Amino acid sequence: MAPIIAASFAGGSRGQYRITQITPVIGEGLAPVARLATHERAPLDFGDAAWTLRGTTGHVRYVAQREKVALAAVQPLLGRPEATCAALIPIRKSDAWWDLAQDERRAIFEERSRHIAVGLDYLPAVARRLYQSRELGEPFDFLTWFEYAPEHAARFEQLVAALRATEEWRYVEREVDIRLVKENANT
Ligand code: HEM
Repeated sequence: MAPIIAASFAGGSRGQYRITQITPVIGEGLAPVARLATHERAPLDFGDAAWTLRGTTGHVRYVAQREKVALAAVQPLLGRPEATCAALIPIRKSDAWWDLAQDERRAIFEERSRHIAVGLDYLPAVARRLYQSRELGEPFDFLTWFEYAPEHAARFEQLVAALRATEEWRYVEREVDIRLVKENANT
């Protein structure tokens, strides 16, 4: 089983990533800042951060066995040197979503919205990691993280637009789209 990873993302004046854009897609946005510091595993003092978001990886909720196999065959690891573009997209879903039963959520997520089937078309160009935040009492339910090379930036926009047009996204009540470029690790 994959280890559980706890991560923090701090928006402020420090960090390896330069923020190119912070777009409030729906609901309240996040304060505009210049840089993003990310840290996995150990908690870190981010000093003057304007905001800090936390999440942990966990077991998957909706992936069927054949999808697990299909994903494992094509999904790339994070940290590829050519994948200098990144996106941090924090998302909160509505009470209506959380009031649904597991089988109803799976039906919306995959049978009707094709989240995994659509996403698979964009692998291996895009590397991803999903962090769960809801159980931590955080302002967002999920922190979604993506890495891709500049040559795949247009494809990534296509993917995000396709997902936002789905039935699943009708349950998204807060979403902020943060785009980043990876720079020198010492900044
Ligand atoms: C790169 C292609 C993508 C693939 C292959 C993919 C795949 C997946 C998979 C397999 C899950 C289910 C995890 C589970 O079972 O718990 C998931 C969940 C999720 N993904 Fe994606 N995804 C992709 C892109 C995106 C993008 C671009 C966004 C945001 C704009 C996004 C947002 C989410 C969210 C919020 C969840 C959690 C849904 C929930 O638990 O209600 N995904 N994704």
